[in-house]
Amino acid sequence: MIREARVFAEADSMTRAIAEECLRIVGAAVAQNGRCAICLSGGSTPKALNALWARDYASSMPWKQIHLFWGDERYVPHDDPLSKFRLARETFISRVPIPPENVHPMPTVSAPPDKSAETYELELRNFFGTEPPEIDLQLQGIGQEGHTASLFPGSPALEEKQRWVLAVKVAATPPQRVTLSPVVLNRGRNTIFLVSGAKKREIIAALRSEPDSKTSRYPAARIQPPGGVLWMLDKAAAG
Ligand code: 6PG
Repeated sequence: MIREARVFAEADSMTRAIAEECLRIVGAAVAQNGRCAICLSGGSTPKALNALWARDYASSMPWKQIHLFWGDERYVPHDDPLSKFRLARETFISRVPIPPENVHPMPTVSAPPDKSAETYELELRNFFGTEPPEIDLQLQGIGQEGHTASLFPGSPALEEKQRWVLAVKVAATPPQRVTLSPVVLNRGRNTIFLVSGAKKREIIAALRSEPDSKTSRYPAARIQPPGGVLWMLDKAAAG
C-alpha cells in the first residue's frame, strides 16, 4: 500500500522536490535537537540527489549538524566501485562542508560480515543511545522485486526483532551485505522512497494494489514507521 505519493513529470523536478523536502526535514530536526541523522541508500536515483546537494545545497544545508549513516552496504572495500559509501563520498560528501566525524559508513571487509554488523550497531548505540534509533530522515530505494536497503523478499532478516544491524546474503551483486534491520527502519521520523524509471512501474503497481500489511511479501511495503512514508515517484515509475 502507498498512502502518500507525489508524482513528477520528470526525474529532474522530482530530485529538486526531494532536495527541498530534505532541507525542510533537516532544518526542523536541527532546530529541535541541534543535529540531524540521515540514512542514505545506494542506487541511481539517490545519485542525482547527491549531485544536486553538491551543486546547489553546499551552503544552504546545515552540514555541520548533519550526521550520515547508511541503510545498507555492499560488503566490499570502501574504495570499490560497488561501495555505496564511495558513491556518496564521490558525489557529494567530498564536495560539501560536512565534518569527517559526522560521516558514519558501515565497516566492511576489515572484519567478517557478522562482526561488521555488530560494530555498526555499536556505533549506532554510541550515537543514539540504548533504545533503537528514530532516524530523522531515511532515504530509501526500492528494487524491482520490492527489496529495500538489503532486505530482500523471503529473507529471515525481515523477521528480526532484536538486532539493529545484520549481515545478510542476498540475490544481488555482491551477495554479501550489511543492512539495518526492520527494528531500526520501522522507527524513522521521516522516510522518503526515491523511485524513478519505467522499470519500477510494475512493483509500484503491485504495492498500490496490495492491502496495507506489515507481512507484505515486498520488504519495502513493510517499512511503516510512525513518522509515515512519503513516496516520490517520477511519471515513468508511477505509470
Ligand atoms: C543494491 C542497489 C539497490 C537500490 C535499489 C534502487 O544495493 O543492489 O543499490 O538497493 O537502492 O535497487 O536503485 P535505483 O535508484 O538505481 O533504482
